[in-house]
Amino acid sequence: APDIDVKSVKADLDQLQSIADANGGNRAHGQAGYKASVDFIKGKLDKAGFTTKVEEFDGGGAKGYNLVADWKGGDESKTVMAGAHLDSVPDGPGINDNGSGSAGILEVALAVAKADLKPTKHLRFAWFGDEEDGMVGSQAYVNKLGADKSKIDSYLNFDMIGSPNPGYFVYDDDTRLEKVFKDFFAKKNIATEKETEGDGRSDHASFKDAGIAVGGLFSGADYKKTEEQAKNWGGEAGKAFDACYHQSCDTAKNIDDKALDNHTDAIAHALWELSS
Ligand code: PHE
Ligand code: ZN
Ligand code: ZN
Repeated sequence: APDIDVKSVKADLDQLQSIADANGGNRAHGQAGYKASVDFIKGKLDKAGFTTKVEEFDGGGAKGYNLVADWKGGDESKTVMAGAHLDSVPDGPGINDNGSGSAGILEVALAVAKADLKPTKHLRFAWFGDEEDGMVGSQAYVNKLGADKSKIDSYLNFDMIGSPNPGYFVYDDDTRLEKVFKDFFAKKNIATEKETEGDGRSDHASFKDAGIAVGGLFSGADYKKTEEQAKNWGGEAGKAFDACYHQSCDTAKNIDDKALDNHTDAIAHALWELSS
């Protein structure tokens, strides 16, 4: 898999920050900044040759949007999906939560196009709306899949992958998917832990509840880093992984570049390997 240039991911985050700045400081479900975020990501995917769809759903009386992008080719009865929620909370621009996962999978998708990848399994990327009110967009997506859910080989979720006081947490829901990420980080001599803070708390839950194999990465939210974790990962013990979680200070400054870089490279590795 290619190395993903973290500068491109950061440039996308700057764009999402600008979108929030121009739209009342947030990119929340039901607000103009959300739809503008969808349009920004979609524009890049269309230009790169993806087939994109914007799927509408109702989220608490407001119109919600999921953005779905398919890469041509591969066995569609074995679709490998990567997803991230694109909405922020109303209180802030949501750059770590979850501009980071959104920009990370965007740059991996663009790398797939650049490499003109010819995967054995079909590849699909999704940006979900209204996660912050209880995974509403991803649930709407899975409901709409119906019987086609048997065609989803695996779903990989990326929600918060650039936390400023970062950890390296790998979802432990499925051993096969967990191993792909663990092996990648082991090669880079980066210690990982099983992800427990987020069980049932992000879009992978919608897929897992439907019986689909799920995996993913997480760099930590409002839990505090322990002494032991600070020894392994650096950063500050006794401080939250993301002290700006769900706050107005979750801006483009609220990112650890190295963590974002490592996590984005891990996504590329996993998608290349799982779709081959
Ligand atoms: N889903 C949470 C949110 O968006 C963040 C989170 C992700 C928490 C993964 C734990 C694990 O606020
Ligand atoms: Zn959140
Ligand atoms: Zn989130």
